[in-house]
Amino acid sequence: MKKKLSVILAITLLVSAALAAAGCGSQDAYESTAKGNAVKKIGIVQIVEHPSLNTIRESIIKELEAGGYKDGKNVEIDYQNAQNDMTNLKTIVQKFTRNKDDLIIAIATPSAQAAMNETDEIPIIFSACTDPVDTGIVPNLDKPGGNVTGTSDAVSAEKIMQLAEQLTPGIKTVGALYSLSEANSVSVIEDLKAYAKEKGMAVIDATVTTTADVQQAVNSLVGKVDAIFSPIDNTVASAMPVVAEASREAGIPVYVGADSMVKDGGLATYGVNYETLGQETAKMAVEVLEGKNPGDMPVKLMSDVNIYVNSDTAEQLGIDIPEDILSKATVFTDD
Ligand code: TRP
Repeated sequence: MKKKLSVILAITLLVSAALAAAGCGSQDAYESTAKGNAVKKIGIVQIVEHPSLNTIRESIIKELEAGGYKDGKNVEIDYQNAQNDMTNLKTIVQKFTRNKDDLIIAIATPSAQAAMNETDEIPIIFSACTDPVDTGIVPNLDKPGGNVTGTSDAVSAEKIMQLAEQLTPGIKTVGALYSLSEANSVSVIEDLKAYAKEKGMAVIDATVTTTADVQQAVNSLVGKVDAIFSPIDNTVASAMPVVAEASREAGIPVYVGADSMVKDGGLATYGVNYETLGQETAKMAVEVLEGKNPGDMPVKLMSDVNIYVNSDTAEQLGIDIPEDILSKATVFTDD
């Protein structure tokens, strides 16, 4: 009996020694064999609260879970919102780097710019950056190099203006409503201006710094323009209900860069599906968590592009949406 016990004890000791050597026996051994942190740490930074960015974030978290990374289980997600304040943005990404996160997911251009200024070691997956090359986030789309890659919601100002001319023909002057501090918007406005020049249209700028300027900017265009164009601008998107009310009252059609801006009262856009974009962002994040190098992964552009119209805005402006457009469009109403 005694002998038997000592044999069992010896076996137990042997097995536990073997387990420890294989990295399964103790927490320390586990941590040193796993790549990075045992429980992966992901910092998600979002520039501001607006419906489109919220959709993107929710879609990312859902798809991470589908890819096997569930918050509170095998991954720790720290989500922070900068409330459109650049100082907050910097503080947030500094916290992520100090915390030695395994991955940073940066939603929108200002977040991506802040994250890449803070670290060239932690992988950064950006989400919904309109023009990552012109805004200096990556040197090229195919092989970004470095620690940064992600998804782009690039839209064509030309395609949106072609839709504008179908819905409200005869636009001679267009108001450009955007934030000068958002490089993502400036890049689209440059395209708008090139298109307008080619077509002999005039463009009047109405720029904003914060959401508090939006009402005044729209007012400054009343009586001077046949239509307003607002790109995928985070500041304008955050104040879209104000834009909708002022422009509907003034009888000016507003063409925008994103579906949520149509849902919030803009007239129409030709834009990407942000739920799909969030899913694609998460898939890239999973690949990086599993060891892939961001620099080797091309930036993903969205092919899921659709027409979105707001039929209540159209009705208030007295615009008939042609049947061939309606049949292809996603239609929003006020609710
Ligand atoms: N494309 C924007 C950027 O580069 C972010 C964004 C995504 C956005 N969806 C939007 C902005 C909808 C306004 C409206 O920062």
